[in-house]
Amino acid sequence: MEEDPLLIDVNRYEDKTYRADGREVTCRAYLGLPYCTKPADPIQVVNIFIPMRYVEGDAANSCADKTGCADKTGCAGTGDTPDGATDEYDASSAPIFIPNTVGGYLPGPADEPGLNARSGHPNALFEALAHGYVCVSGGVRGRTTGKATTEFFEGSRAGELGEATGRKLGRAPAFIVDEKAIIRFIRHNAGRIPGDVERMVTDGISAGGALSALAGATGNDPAYEPYLEEIGAADERDDIFAASCYCPIHNLENADAAYEWQFCGQRAWRRLAPRREGDQVVRVPVEGLMSDRQMELSEQLKSVFPAYVNSLGLVDEDGAPLTLAADGTGSFRDRVAAEVARSAQRELDLRELEGPLAGLGVEGSDLDAAVAARAIRVEDGLVAAVDWERYNRHITRMKDTPAFDHVDLGGPENEEFGDECVDGRHFMAHPQIIDAPADTMADPAIVRLMNPVPHIAPQMATRHWRIRHGSFDRDTSLAIPTILALKLRMAGCDVDYRLPWGLPHCGDYQLGELFAWIDGLCQ
Ligand code: DHB
Repeated sequence: MEEDPLLIDVNRYEDKTYRADGREVTCRAYLGLPYCTKPADPIQVVNIFIPMRYVEGDAANSCADKTGCADKTGCAGTGDTPDGATDEYDASSAPIFIPNTVGGYLPGPADEPGLNARSGHPNALFEALAHGYVCVSGGVRGRTTGKATTEFFEGSRAGELGEATGRKLGRAPAFIVDEKAIIRFIRHNAGRIPGDVERMVTDGISAGGALSALAGATGNDPAYEPYLEEIGAADERDDIFAASCYCPIHNLENADAAYEWQFCGQRAWRRLAPRREGDQVVRVPVEGLMSDRQMELSEQLKSVFPAYVNSLGLVDEDGAPLTLAADGTGSFRDRVAAEVARSAQRELDLRELEGPLAGLGVEGSDLDAAVAARAIRVEDGLVAAVDWERYNRHITRMKDTPAFDHVDLGGPENEEFGDECVDGRHFMAHPQIIDAPADTMADPAIVRLMNPVPHIAPQMATRHWRIRHGSFDRDTSLAIPTILALKLRMAGCDVDYRLPWGLPHCGDYQLGELFAWIDGLCQ
């Protein structure tokens, strides 16, 4: 019989101890396994990490606490150890946690447990492994795949964004194709390694959050099949159990209209641009004023957003329509403002920016400043109102117009929609606004393969969703994650959606809460 190259040789492991923040975790690691038979790029490999407690014959199995954490002192064996490890699972029931490292639609290489370069805290892999999940980190292609690039995103380490192969094979829809191939590879190896393949949970931040959402919304969709065949993915299902999405930058074809719906009227924009200085990443303020032409474009983009929102048929929990009038006001806007109010109320009650979210808030994001700016009105300890216009001026515009689909095709998302021969394409739903010639447009079928929203349907396999998006996140409009959450709920999914107060565009915070959510689903 011919050998199956996608079956893991279970004997080719390394037992490794990873350290972060004065803690350590020991695991069985399978590193650098190719997950498809016809890879397009060297990045297409996975790392698998298995808590020692699930490894047959390991001494940790006989320990009362079964955490596999090397330092057993103080472990009570109750499932509530110093590292928050759980003892709910065994080798056949443990969830399989699949965080990606994608940011900025750049390639996302396979990672190892350790420190998150951006936050300085242990990364999601380290924490999930310590908690007791089987962890999978797969490398996926991105917009600069095949090119020598100095681009980076804040979480990445120098020189890890792939090799200059000269083959620019990472453009849309490559990242979701690779994510699906990883999911299929894990399912293909069910029973060979610990973990329950029917409990796969993806996780990602920003473009990586979009990737996680796509994995959830497009499970087993035949539209991706030709691409999966092209790289020699395993012939398996590619649906997942649950998706965790931090600030997902998705719905790109409608993101420009959504952005101007929120920020139209603001001429000034400002942001902190990450720059490398030696092996440090520093954040340099950059700011500017939009031209009169950009202010016009902003108005035009804003004006097409209501028709999009109204086309979605959104309703609230009571079935009342969530719509927008031509001027951008209406029940959908009230709903987004209500999400901000819910966020502010939680901060008022729990003061998380001084507790579990300390150090993560945007400068000036304390609630009192928003109250002083009359963006939020508080009466008797209750958030009484959000002034939507003032709130948006308070958090300020980050990107100039168009925020995503750049007129000169120079934006990261333009590059994402390029291919081996064409470096960038337009993708917005209303290209006439920016006078985009027809031959500069991405194929609408490919744009659709990159957006979870049109795929959401009641028969979708992934029922469990967790979405977090900072209330001060200006990388995309707050309308975008709100639409995602509403559509999912309307499709009958269980959706845990919140805008943590004061947080910018960031992710993998409050991992203990994320893991408690996953454990709750598995009970
Ligand atoms: C990311 C951020 C953006 O502002 C964007 O347009 C695309 C991706 C990111 O952080 O991944």
